[in-house]
Amino acid sequence: MAAHTSDDWWRSAAIYQVYVRSFADGDGDGTGDLAGVRAKLPYLAELGVDALWFTPWYLSPLADGGYDVADYRAIDPAFGTMAEAEKLIVEARGLGIRTIVDIVPNHLSDQHPWFRAALAAGPGSPERELFHFRPGRGEHGELPPNAWPSQFAGETWTRVEDGEWYLHLFTPQQPDLNWAHPAVRREHEDVLRFWFERGVAGVRIDSAALLAKDPELPEFVEGTDRHPYIDRDELHDVYRSWRAVADEYGAVFVGEVWLPDSERFARYLRPDELHTAFNFTFLTCPWDAARLRASIDDTLAEHAPVGAPATWVLCNHDVTRTVTRYGRTDTGFDFAAKRFGTPTDLDLGTRRARAAALLSLALPGSVYLYQGEELGLPEADIPLDRIQDPMHFRSGGVDPGRDGCRVPLPWTAEPWATPWLPQPGDWARYAADRQGGDPSSMLALYRRALLLRRSQPGFGDGGLTWLEAPEGVLAFAREDGLCCVVNLAAEPVPLPAHRALLLASGPLADGLLPQDTAVWLRA
Ligand code: NOJ
Repeated sequence: MAAHTSDDWWRSAAIYQVYVRSFADGDGDGTGDLAGVRAKLPYLAELGVDALWFTPWYLSPLADGGYDVADYRAIDPAFGTMAEAEKLIVEARGLGIRTIVDIVPNHLSDQHPWFRAALAAGPGSPERELFHFRPGRGEHGELPPNAWPSQFAGETWTRVEDGEWYLHLFTPQQPDLNWAHPAVRREHEDVLRFWFERGVAGVRIDSAALLAKDPELPEFVEGTDRHPYIDRDELHDVYRSWRAVADEYGAVFVGEVWLPDSERFARYLRPDELHTAFNFTFLTCPWDAARLRASIDDTLAEHAPVGAPATWVLCNHDVTRTVTRYGRTDTGFDFAAKRFGTPTDLDLGTRRARAAALLSLALPGSVYLYQGEELGLPEADIPLDRIQDPMHFRSGGVDPGRDGCRVPLPWTAEPWATPWLPQPGDWARYAADRQGGDPSSMLALYRRALLLRRSQPGFGDGGLTWLEAPEGVLAFAREDGLCCVVNLAAEPVPLPAHRALLLASGPLADGLLPQDTAVWLRA
């Protein structure tokens, strides 16, 4: 049930992702900041979310949008100060909104004091043991130690002046930490405590399944069951100690765990490990009734044995925005398939995104909303000379990168500063101030849906029963007679028997539910 005030708030919560750099700009320099977030807390409270997940707000050279952390105990001056972060956490809590911070344990920034010290100290030094430094292969060590595939396109090793190479699964500015080293574990437990002491209620764990590496650094062999760096068994011991720390504070974790194997995925959610993990199966699922139903069933089945609640996610700061994706011919999401100029029908995509909002908010568990999703923002086309995302450059310019979903939000139809990424010319129509007064807007739909979800104990954590429905229609019941029906088929369908129509994602046609429309009913 949607019990946002109880200890198990996280089992049902609606969590809003704040990409600070692009959320709200308090000082007019074009970059979002903590002053901007504080000013928008009433907006977030009115929207009806239970928690905010902040993407990294720490000191960072921003080589990867802040996922290159130079100091976990400092706020980047572009965003504000530690004192402001502390105030923000308290003010948000005063409005009933909890704070979740993002911890990036797999790697640091190359500007972090640890890495600078490792570079200075040279081969064989204890400072280098905190990372994965190795001599190269080949006669003169001119070849990287192995050919591991990168998480971003491109190389995974960089050679330093003294001839050694260091591992980075992402960009060269993000050296991987050596999780077999006790100091790395100690430091992160300390960082967790630092933020829990400041009233943070949860932590999102970046790249959560990548931390442990096979110390022999063997080549990755397709088809083998043990990957040299993904989902290694020794990781669970790390998360068990993290859980013990979180339990002291009543705080919770959400892991970024992209794993196709549901049994392996569920291991991270055992009762003494992480509380929740993002549902990437649902996020990447095409707009297709049978596929969605299978994805929902698989999700619930994989979570059930460990007693963890599911999470439902349609989009985040790494993937194509929902209305754009759902308006395409291929409505799934795949990093490898991202290309410039993929056609989309935004009206269609928006209709589907509205229906998907009601679908995901009605499913059992917690739900994540990415800033701007409530405004129905499409993916923006970023002019080539303004792109900043390393994914674009590391793909040799083939992948447009992730900037298109990271454009600063249009709060007002009249922009008041020049945003760090350009807003498309027609974004005035998505502005929050325009949508606020329009009952047919995406914002109005989200507000009503979140309010209802919160007031109806049948939503949030709990069970789900599929109802009989024609092909192409998803219909399920929750407790207290609540049900959700989504029509993905071409023909309009009659609504099942009900006492009240609580909410519809679009107009009904003569009492029938048209294609790409969803309703919440009370039976
Ligand atoms: C996942 C984050 O969501 C993404 O934005 C980042 O680039 C990588 N992890 C590396 O930290």
